[in-house]
Amino acid sequence: MMKHFLFAAMLLMGTACCAQTTKLPKPNMQRKTLSVMEAFKQRKSTRSYSNKQLSEQDLSDLLWATIGVNRDNGNLTAPTAMNRQEIILYVFTDKEVSLYDPKTHSLTKVADGDHRDIVAGRQDFAKTAPLSLLMVADMGKFGSNNEHARWMVGTDVGIVTQNINLFCAAANLATVTRGTMDQQAIQKLLNLNENQIPVINNPVGYMNE
Ligand SMILES: Cc1cc2nc3c(=O)[nH]c(=O)nc-3n(C[C@H](O)[C@H](O)[C@H](O)COP(=O)(O)O)c2cc1C
Repeated sequence: MMKHFLFAAMLLMGTACCAQTTKLPKPNMQRKTLSVMEAFKQRKSTRSYSNKQLSEQDLSDLLWATIGVNRDNGNLTAPTAMNRQEIILYVFTDKEVSLYDPKTHSLTKVADGDHRDIVAGRQDFAKTAPLSLLMVADMGKFGSNNEHARWMVGTDVGIVTQNINLFCAAANLATVTRGTMDQQAIQKLLNLNENQIPVINNPVGYMNE
């Protein structure tokens, strides 16, 4: 009886831990950034970051630019093949891992603790960024997993990571598109199914000046 009670209490605590959802501040559409042409000129891979945490507003603007809803019909800043919107975006920080929901522009915690090391994989520099954005392709949501589908989904992920690159260039943030990561450890931590593939990640931070 006592055992059952303790188990139920642990389950409840677990749920409380990870069901926490944080609404982000509204993206700042008046944000002062470089022009698109200047952002293209500045776009580059940067592998060194200040350890300063991103402000809430910078995180909000970054996530919205990455894959936020930009129209009343629910479509996103990144196009996706057949509008499947199959790219799932996770945010890894020194405190937790959370899932970005474009519809509500909010973050829901899915794991406690600092797991940036499994996104970094064998590239230690990536652990030094205050956060890493991880793009997971949900082939199940795409509806097919044949070669053509994988080309389409790969293209979709490429567009999302380039949104990050261009926003960072325009806002003077440091980032790099990376395929390196510990995929197995990520799949285990995030409890991904076999159709959900971690594809690309971008560490993001302020420039290390
Ligand atoms: C799909 C893709 C995967 C990449 N994977 C890594 C990676 O795992 N680690 C890394 O340090 N850079 C990675 N890069 C960054 C490239 O090395 C970089 O874009 C290239 O050297 C050109 O440099 P630039 O981005 O400054 O123009 C990747 C880039 C792309 C597009």
